Amino acid sequence: QTTRVAVLLGSLRADSVNRRLAELVAERAPEGVEVVIAEGLGDVPFYNEDVDAAGAPAAAQALRDLVARADRVLAVTPEYNGTMPAVLNNAIDWLSRPYGQGALTGKPFAAVGVTPTPYGGQWAHDHARRSATIAGAVVPEEIAFSQTSIDVDVLTDEQVVARLLGAVEALVAAQPATAAA
Ligand code: FNR
Repeated sequence: QTTRVAVLLGSLRADSVNRRLAELVAERAPEGVEVVIAEGLGDVPFYNEDVDAAGAPAAAQALRDLVARADRVLAVTPEYNGTMPAVLNNAIDWLSRPYGQGALTGKPFAAVGVTPTPYGGQWAHDHARRSATIAGAVVPEEIAFSQTSIDVDVLTDEQVVARLLGAVEALVAAQPATAAA
């Protein structure tokens, strides 16, 4: 049976290195693993409890449905101003509601990615993990991958792709939380 991994991209730009890495990993997903990129995160409105109460907009609902159907969630993101990009933060906010029953609840989550600075976007990844934890996800701290790349042309570096694939495998091996009996 297939384990489905939903990818949340923190970058909207067409030539995003993080997108290209995620696409490579989707192509090379291990046997029995399907990696699905959540498209259209830029179309999801800013989270607003009033709007949610009136019925989630189509783009937000599509995001919730995609993650609900997934077994694991992987954020692949650069860092913006020392934290995760707003588009990723907003996605996590939508996935955190309804409170206690959001699509992230109980689901293994990891945050990884590449930036050109020496820390490789570690704050973005730390903050995404913290938010996902608060949203009810299972977040194994050891699945951490913050890769620096002075030259953004990291895709020729097979080690980066291998590290990312390793993160996917570790995430697939992580156990979801079972609902309290
Ligand atoms: C950045 N960048 C950046 N990088 C970083 O490591 N730490 C940071 O705090 C920031 N801050 C930041 C803010 C804003 C508004 C932008 C646009 C960029 C650089 C960023 O990591 C770089 O552009 C990445 O290559 C973007 O990743 P994608 O789009 O190639 O996936």
